[in-house]
Amino acid sequence: MSTFTYLITGASRSLGLGYARQLLESGEHVRVVAGARNPDSAEDLRKLQKKVGEDRLYILKLDVTDAAQVTESVKELESSGFLRDGALDCLINNAGVAQSTGKLPSDIVPDEVLDHLQTNLFGVMNVTSSYLPLLKKGKGKQIFGVSSTCGSIGGPFGENSMATAYCISKVALNMYSRKLSRELEKDGFTVVVFHPGYVKTDMNDGKGDLTTEEAVRLAQVSSAPPTDNIFLKLGKDENGSFWRYDGERMPW
Ligand SMILES: NC(=O)c1ccc[n+]([C@@H]2O[C@H](COP(=O)([O-])OP(=O)(O)OC[C@H]3O[C@@H](n4cnc5c(N)ncnc54)[C@H](OP(=O)(O)O)[C@@H]3O)[C@@H](O)[C@H]2O)c1
Repeated sequence: MSTFTYLITGASRSLGLGYARQLLESGEHVRVVAGARNPDSAEDLRKLQKKVGEDRLYILKLDVTDAAQVTESVKELESSGFLRDGALDCLINNAGVAQSTGKLPSDIVPDEVLDHLQTNLFGVMNVTSSYLPLLKKGKGKQIFGVSSTCGSIGGPFGENSMATAYCISKVALNMYSRKLSRELEKDGFTVVVFHPGYVKTDMNDGKGDLTTEEAVRLAQVSSAPPTDNIFLKLGKDENGSFWRYDGERMPW
């Protein structure tokens, strides 16, 4: 079987690490480039690399908010010899931030929104633009954005006044992804955003409904019957859509 190579941002811990682990377990042909801001302190990721081997997991220094560093990371990856035919099959834009200040929308200042946009939108834009040439060479041609129910205007967060800055950043991510899906349709891409569940991670101080293991296992991202691979099953028919981890469609 030919190989399938993912790039996952924010893979040092929590969901990003969980996706890396799950994908690597899904088949020997799967290979992962795990982006981490500080590879030296990403101990669990290093343990995973030891387990699966350096030929299947490459740890890449990648701070999504630093456009120059993102550009450098492409060069590093290209010269590392890890990629087959210089290609990536799938990008999972997972790195994200959420600062819960509990402020009402009328009390939010622009800098709070900007702080969220830096990572949750501009970071995704930096990585996507820089890695697009490698993704165009791949056969998978998939780009996933880890969005949130908070980015769904038609969902519960469109009905309350909570987490405004974070919600705005995920709505922006959704529109960016939808626009990208239209641009890349002619090239055969599948660009999809999904809500990963309310997951007990560092982001919410462990207050979620699901463990990372459950969220990653349940993340079928399609109503099709489960397969071993959580991301491979979505195809071109789903280009430009918004999903929930359990296979339900999300309202925009
Ligand atoms: N947990 C939930 O319930 C939930 C719900 C909906 C959506 N989400 C989304 O799911 C994604 C993952 O969330 P999580 O719960 O796993 O969050 P988390 O526990 O806070 O982990 C965030 C990850 O993103 C990385 N990161 C943050 N800023 C970065 C940057 N500038 N460059 C590179 N990496 C960066 C962190 O790296 P470091 O280790 O270097 O800090 C870490 O690996 C996010 O996009 C989040 O918005 C989560």
